[in-house]
Amino acid sequence: MVGTRRMIALLFLVAVFASAAVDGCTPSDRAALLAFKAALNEPYLGIFNSWKGYDCCHGWYGVQCDPELRRVADITLRGESEDPIFQKAHRTGYMTGSISPAICKLDRLSSLIIADWKGVSGPIPACISSLPFLRHLDLTGNRISGEIPADIGRLSRLAVLHLADNLITGRIPRSLTNLSSLMHLDLRNNSIRGTIPRNFGKMKMLSRALFSHNRLQGFIPGSFSAIYRLSDLDLSFNRLSGPIPESLGKMSVLATLNLDVNYISGTIPASLVNSRIGTLNLSRNAIEGPIPDAFGPRSYFTVLDLSYNKLKGNIPKSIASATFIGHLDVSHNHLCGPIPAGSPFDHLEASSFVANDCLCGKPLKAC
Ligand SMILES: *[C@@H]1O[C@H](CO)[C@@H](O)[C@H](O)[C@H]1NC(C)=O
Ligand SMILES: *[C@@H]1O[C@H](CO)[C@@H](O)[C@H](O)[C@H]1NC(C)=O
Ligand SMILES: *[C@@H]1O[C@H](CO)[C@@H](O)[C@H](O)[C@H]1NC(C)=O
Repeated sequence: MVGTRRMIALLFLVAVFASAAVDGCTPSDRAALLAFKAALNEPYLGIFNSWKGYDCCHGWYGVQCDPELRRVADITLRGESEDPIFQKAHRTGYMTGSISPAICKLDRLSSLIIADWKGVSGPIPACISSLPFLRHLDLTGNRISGEIPADIGRLSRLAVLHLADNLITGRIPRSLTNLSSLMHLDLRNNSIRGTIPRNFGKMKMLSRALFSHNRLQGFIPGSFSAIYRLSDLDLSFNRLSGPIPESLGKMSVLATLNLDVNYISGTIPASLVNSRIGTLNLSRNAIEGPIPDAFGPRSYFTVLDLSYNKLKGNIPKSIASATFIGHLDVSHNHLCGPIPAGSPFDHLEASSFVANDCLCGKPLKAC
């Protein structure tokens, strides 16, 4: 009898704990989410209407918990999505307000995505660099201002850092190169100034580094070429100067190199035209000297845009040995001499060759 009663009491306790573990999110996580919500205003879709009740792990739009720890792990709020809530409203998202530092109390957060809401402003809370499990930070497409937190490099698990299309100012923090797990870095279309850290190549996991449309100046660090996995490097629309490091042409997987619209000078390294690079845009710089006569069977370009520079000399003969050149543009330079016949020149239009000193032959005037 006593045994049975004890058993029942025990079962009751187990049930109480189990239901607390299954249903509840921790009160501190819930409080942090409500403080985060209070600093934002989303007038058209009502995504935050679901953020009510005690269990923030169930039914709160965009919130995911770790199933074992019952702690908030992911916040995914995208202003452009296929979610039915958007289809019903027949519009994309718009949200104002700012990102509350209360978010930093979610110390099990692994992913924070607040992207494409157009109107979220204010700074990235500096305390974000104290979130030890953060792997994915995406604040693309808002009006985030201020600087990238100086000690962002503490986020040792961070794999994705997407801050494109915002109003971020200041420099690339020196600690950034300590992000040894970073795979995707997208800082495009902000107002970031200063130089690219010389030791950028420390980030060995990086596969995409996108910086276009900022105000970066100084030289392109040669250490980029130490990043074995780097496949996409976009430095276009900045104020970079100095030469193109020769080592960029020797990288094993670099496929896209966009350096257009900068103040880059010096000559085109021969390594660049016989490399793995398939999209090479050097347009609108101050590059001089000849187009290297170093094309070969490894040369396979979907885009080779050398327009608006100060290139001199002939179109090199070896270009005929390239396996493929889809789009070629050498217009607005100081090139001279006959345009070679045959592939890849037979499908190109005059606009690819115009405004040089004395290029001639098809598709321009006969020599
Ligand atoms: C830059 O970002 C703003 C949003 O902050 C966007 O409206 C604009 O179209 C973007 N510009 C480019 C060139 O992508
Ligand atoms: C980068 O990490 C190292 C080792 O943890 C540390 O000593 C250094 O101060 C960090 N650099 C910056 C700029 O934070
Ligand atoms: C190369 O860059 C220039 C300048 O930004 C741009 O106008 C051009 O379209 C680009 N070339 C290609 C083929 O994308």
